Amino acid sequence: QELNMKLEMLEKGGYEHFMLKEIFEQPRSIRDCMRGRMYPELGKVQLGGIKEFANKLKNIDRIIIVACGTSWHAGLVGEYLIEDYARIPVEVEYASEFRYRNPIITEKDVVIAISQSGETADTMAAIEMAKDKGATIFGICNVAGASIPRISDAGVYTHAGPEIGVASTKAFTAQVTVLTLIAFYMAQQRGTLGTAELTELLTALDEIPDKVSLALESNELIKYIATEIKDATNCLFLGRGCGFPVALEGALKLKEISYIHAEGYPAAEMKHGPIALIDEQMPVIFIATKNSSYEKVISNIQEVKARKGIVIAIVTKGDRKVKDMVDYVIEIPDANETFLPLLATIPLQLLSYHIAVMRGCNVDQPRNLAKSVTVE
Ligand code: G6P
Repeated sequence: QELNMKLEMLEKGGYEHFMLKEIFEQPRSIRDCMRGRMYPELGKVQLGGIKEFANKLKNIDRIIIVACGTSWHAGLVGEYLIEDYARIPVEVEYASEFRYRNPIITEKDVVIAISQSGETADTMAAIEMAKDKGATIFGICNVAGASIPRISDAGVYTHAGPEIGVASTKAFTAQVTVLTLIAFYMAQQRGTLGTAELTELLTALDEIPDKVSLALESNELIKYIATEIKDATNCLFLGRGCGFPVALEGALKLKEISYIHAEGYPAAEMKHGPIALIDEQMPVIFIATKNSSYEKVISNIQEVKARKGIVIAIVTKGDRKVKDMVDYVIEIPDANETFLPLLATIPLQLLSYHIAVMRGCNVDQPRNLAKSVTVE
């Protein structure tokens, strides 16, 4: 018994749970995911796994991303980045809906399946259908040799290493990293980004793993904030732009492991519903970093404070304006807005982790959930 416990501790690298270990692995896993794929000084992205389709990418009309759960949230980030940089229309679909709704798919479509396990039944079925209709299938998976990479025409592995915690953490940031590289690669192929711009973006991306390490330094503060909101029954996560998928992912993490009801929403949509829920019991977590939607998010914070909600804001280091308005701030390093999801997700993972531990939940194996869902 004692030996077993020691072995388990060893596997967890001294951390109390796999989830915490995996959260802290992210500076390394993101770095591993970028290795050999980008050359900042040359302003070049190289993706061996989809190289064969480099020419096809110049002429495609649209991309459809299919995924489930956390991977679907990564897909939303991918949509924003691919449309922004490569100017290709992107649709993001829940695999379970896509496979049953008779969607329009042609030979000119590229369907990207995102899946940590590479075994999710709905995602698998969605790409089988798209393949039958002639689409080109790219897989973004973590587990090498799994079913989805095997039936894909091409793909890019996330190289995050084995993820044991049921709630996805390092696989998510690796998926976002791959999608960022894919967006840049497509932009490079289609000429929508020049070498100088790519050099600047890739140099900034190269700094992200170190900035993730800095973001992890807020762990103790986040643990303290967790003690303050751990008894909440509901929680709202709000963000705009790339902060919106981050909000969805933050809410999903909290639901999955702490069993607190949580919703992620685009901050501006709050007035069409969730604002009715806000009272002095309701924690509202804002992604309020300094970017193009900063001022707008500030007005949304004011609306919540006017209704006495408890506001926790993820802010850019050194921010004073938001700090003076809210109950708690968690700082993340300043970075190009494009990379916001890689940084802003980190404190939300830690927050849900600590809340779940304090509530006595089984963090690594939450009730009713499975790491890979191979049935419908
Ligand atoms: C399950 C897991 C989630 C995961 C989802 C999709 O629900 O608990 O963490 O995001 O499946 O899994 P996939 O392996 O396809 O990314």
